[in-house]
Amino acid sequence: MLPVALITWPFEAEILEPIRDRCQLIVNPEPRFWTPNEFKLRLRDAEIVACMLTNRITPEILDQCPKLRMIANVAVGYDNLNVPALRERCVLASNTPDVLTDATADLTMALILAVTRRVVEADRFTREGRFDGMQFDLFLGMELQGKTLSILGFGRIGRAVAARAEAFGMRILHGRSEFADNRADADASGVHVAGALRTSLEQVLTEADILTIHVPLRETTRHLINADRLRRMKSSAYLINTSRGPIVDESALAAALRERRLAGAGLDVYEFEPRVHSDLLALPNVVLLPHIGSATREARRRMTEVAIANISDYLNGRPPRNLLPELTRDDGPTSKELQRL
Ligand code: GLV
Ligand code: GLV
Repeated sequence: MLPVALITWPFEAEILEPIRDRCQLIVNPEPRFWTPNEFKLRLRDAEIVACMLTNRITPEILDQCPKLRMIANVAVGYDNLNVPALRERCVLASNTPDVLTDATADLTMALILAVTRRVVEADRFTREGRFDGMQFDLFLGMELQGKTLSILGFGRIGRAVAARAEAFGMRILHGRSEFADNRADADASGVHVAGALRTSLEQVLTEADILTIHVPLRETTRHLINADRLRRMKSSAYLINTSRGPIVDESALAAALRERRLAGAGLDVYEFEPRVHSDLLALPNVVLLPHIGSATREARRRMTEVAIANISDYLNGRPPRNLLPELTRDDGPTSKELQRL
């Protein structure tokens, strides 16, 4: 009996080709995410799953799906997976690093430019028929040349943002890597951002003209940006978040923006996704995107290819190439699973 592989999105036939003969494929026929219940029911017989950020893998789900051995998360972040529970049950899991770095860094720049130059507000103004001739003081924004960009999380994506910001003439500060994914830090050594200055979290906050967040969501990074840290920022500063919503205390952010203790924000992710804080929806100086950081045709295609390559590794009896760093430590029960492969 070939192992059952559940693919939660209608990947193209060509992408599935490398694994087609080695498993029983069950592919979601529609471009629609399964509800938690649909997912749970379909997962019951699966040994392998290619799943999305919206699919939460909890200890309960793992207990209900004892055949499950390999999870290919089609995302770089994997806060939807309960990693300690995977370790305990010797379930392998992989992510899709690198292939979405440029797409996410590009979107971060798009948000930076959109908020500092008030692109969305100005577009709305024009569509409303209010443009009656160029004015000298219309939609004044902030220039990037010479301004300080503080980067929290100097891993793959943080560095790719730094490289872009450098071309805009920005001064770049970044925090120590305590909040970043260490492996990501090491892997990102291919990108050299000569001028980037490593400094304390305090300086990162107080000197930022723009603060951009690129840390993974962990217990240690939840509400990393809270009311107290927002208060340390300049009132002329902007906050950008393309990582994970819960890293920012969203009601503290909304209060800071409302009270003009912050100039604006560009957000692609939300604390209680897909819900967006009602105060943020009402503020003109906030640009709100629907979690599209990696949404380019190029990145999406490569993400699916990488997820399938990881499944292919597993089917070939090899450790998946993008095994999560927490599972590569050889002190845990996962090592037994790796030895079995
Ligand atoms: C997207 O949010 C990802 O983690 O890939
Ligand atoms: C603006 O359009 C200028 O020409 O300065």
